[in-house]
Amino acid sequence: MTHTEWPFHPAINVPRVIAHRGYSTRAPENTLAAVRAAHQAGVRWVELDVQLLGDATPVIWHDRDVKRCSNGSGALAGLDWPRARRLDAGSWFSAAWQGEPMARLDEMLALLNALGMGLNLELKINRGHDPLALARRVIPEVLAALPPERLIVSSFNHEALTRARAIAPPQALALGLLAKRLPRAWQRQCAAVNAFSVHLDWRYVSPARLAALHRAQYRVFCYTANDPQAFSPCWRWGVNGVISDDPAAFLPPG
Ligand code: G3P
Ligand code: MG
Repeated sequence: MTHTEWPFHPAINVPRVIAHRGYSTRAPENTLAAVRAAHQAGVRWVELDVQLLGDATPVIWHDRDVKRCSNGSGALAGLDWPRARRLDAGSWFSAAWQGEPMARLDEMLALLNALGMGLNLELKINRGHDPLALARRVIPEVLAALPPERLIVSSFNHEALTRARAIAPPQALALGLLAKRLPRAWQRQCAAVNAFSVHLDWRYVSPARLAALHRAQYRVFCYTANDPQAFSPCWRWGVNGVISDDPAAFLPPG
């Protein structure tokens, strides 16, 4: 079966530049401040990671614990929202961001709507985390908040994608298969979740793989590239977009 025979995806016009964890070289990653910084720089889509706290509150956070990106310690799963809210998730980045809080998913969605921005939401399944619980808690909330044209949900975790697809059909939710290198079984894996896109580490893409993905009508986004010159062959090979910590470096001048 080819992609064209499948149900249509939302009419998503993804820009070529997506800010990784918000504008994460200008503001603390995955915070409201990082999304505002991306918007200020003229970037219209952001990639953000979502996980659950121990009390099942969905929050925008990358790591399994809070050590690297806050003044606290311990696993995310060991925190409830009142305790997580008290963390300073800005000072580790710079004194200018002291007191920037961890963002709850609903706060982030409200900001994205206020700014009219698009979201590539990564269902982040760290060790010991439950893909079903994350998908069930997050997907309905995101679908209720954002129009399908401004949303792609991606994950390295195949079960998370499968669970997400069981909640929403292809016309209602674009899914992205996330992998470092294109997996050998990519056709089967993409078909199983009716993927819209494939998200790959930019260092492992090749013209042949890109051509195969495009023949199958998948969009291809590459993470996490921060050097436009080194990345330039990827544009020639037809990559649809870059996910960057320094997205303004990839925007056209002016
Ligand atoms: O979605 C692309 C990228 O965010 C995947 O890796 O570890 O930065 O979440 P990571
Ligand atoms: Mg991510």
